[in-house]
Amino acid sequence: MAATTKPNADSEVHKTSLPIDLQYIQYQHSLEAQYLPAIRSLISKDLSEPYSIYVYRYFLCQWGHLCYMALDPADSSLVGVVICKLEMHSSHSTPTLRGYIAMLAVSSQYRGHGIATKLVKMAIDAMAERNADEIVLETEETNIPAMRLYERLGFLRSKKLHRYYLNGNSAYRLVLPLKAVDESSEGSE
Ligand SMILES: CC(C)(COP(=O)(O)OP(=O)(O)OC[C@H]1O[C@@H](n2cnc3c(N)ncnc32)[C@H](O)[C@@H]1OP(=O)(O)O)[C@@H](O)C(=O)NCCC(=O)NCCS
Repeated sequence: MAATTKPNADSEVHKTSLPIDLQYIQYQHSLEAQYLPAIRSLISKDLSEPYSIYVYRYFLCQWGHLCYMALDPADSSLVGVVICKLEMHSSHSTPTLRGYIAMLAVSSQYRGHGIATKLVKMAIDAMAERNADEIVLETEETNIPAMRLYERLGFLRSKKLHRYYLNGNSAYRLVLPLKAVDESSEGSE
């Protein structure tokens, strides 16, 4: 997922002074009425492929504990969000517990301060604590800020997905392996 950025999206980083400390909180169902409209609005602002409310609920209702929000403490408004899931994936010879980062966005005025990095690290830690073998995601090949952010955090390019998005743009699938592969046990059973 992580649909492509709109061609006319506000891609410039407009730096403002940050509040001293943003609040970083885990999503929970009781926050839906307060934050789901803001989450949808923040994500749909920059992504060209609109997701229905069911897509958001699919992730947030099942894996809210893997979703994190950055809030401005002045008014509790949403500044950034990461939305993930964690499931068994059985297309490999050995089934893997695969984390997936589905959506990530930070409000344009707040970009370039490490907010997305912090949100993604929190999501990685939460998935690692739940024993994930790997974390994957897709991002548009031309989305330089996202590619840099993920590669800085150790994600590797595993596959190029040609014309992956509705607008014809291609994506990279990125993967963060969380466990060393024990090659000696491969194929031994
Ligand atoms: C991609 C996106 C989420 C990045 O958000 P962000 O909060 O600006 O990301 P970060 O601040 O963590 O990282 C961006 C830069 O800030 C720098 N940075 C990190 N910590 C910092 C800090 N404490 N202070 C200042 N700058 C910092 C990073 O070095 C990075 O710079 P570089 O990549 O040029 O080296 C944001 O641009 C966005 O919402 N884009 C639209 C939606 C989108 O494309 N989502 C991803 C789809 S996969």
